[in-house]
Amino acid sequence: MFYDTRTGDHGLPHNPFKACVVPRPIGWVTTLNEAGTVNLAPYSFFNGVAGDPPVVMFAPGGRKADGPPDGSKDSLANAERTKEFVCNVVTWDLRDTMNLTSAPAPAGVSEAEVAELEMVPSQLVKPPRVKASPIHMECRYLQTVDLPSNASDARNAVVFGEVIGIHIDESVLTEGLIDMAKLRPIARLGYMDYCRVDEVFSIRRPDWPLKKRSAAAE
Ligand SMILES: Cc1cc2nc3c(=O)[nH]c(=O)nc-3n(C[C@H](O)[C@H](O)[C@H](O)COP(=O)(O)O)c2cc1C
Repeated sequence: MFYDTRTGDHGLPHNPFKACVVPRPIGWVTTLNEAGTVNLAPYSFFNGVAGDPPVVMFAPGGRKADGPPDGSKDSLANAERTKEFVCNVVTWDLRDTMNLTSAPAPAGVSEAEVAELEMVPSQLVKPPRVKASPIHMECRYLQTVDLPSNASDARNAVVFGEVIGIHIDESVLTEGLIDMAKLRPIARLGYMDYCRVDEVFSIRRPDWPLKKRSAAAE
């Protein structure tokens, strides 16, 4: 099949786009609002996009009913105003709590409090960290790229932040490496479904010139 996304006429029960780019890691983003209240929300349009220095992005799209008047989601408005955010890694054990924090709580209500999550101070930025998450990335806001939006009252944006500090709980390390079987991160799939990473395999990058593959190696 083929469909033109500009018509949206895919003829399927659900829009397949998000199932074409999978799995998507989840950035569980902490920010502070003007009053200093903690805002926490999951974003699966999230990724690491550079290594040196480390940079992450998350993409808030659409708007909440009582969100900021310019159509920003709260995390976007807060990150732009305070120039800081924290990305907490979501693990299997945190799946339901993470989902709770995606509820469209009115601005000013702390999703972290609603979800009864213990927060701990960060070292380099003001937004705090989710204590139960084993990895936190403290980020300094770099820039927002505004994307086209099909809804006139909603921003569709990508926020970039430089990761200036990383906390890693020793419990997820094996011989100094982050061990996925211990971390058990979850990722978003195409619809309301998720996957859990706890089995990994390695592939070595090729040298040049390429070696001929022997049938025995296949
Ligand atoms: C697993 C998961 C991933 C999500 N990813 C995104 C996303 O990438 N972009 C987005 O705008 N909303 C996403 N949402 C919805 C937001 O979390 C939700 O709109 C939230 O209320 C935004 O909160 P905020 O306005 O406090 O930033 C996601 C929800 C879940 C459960």
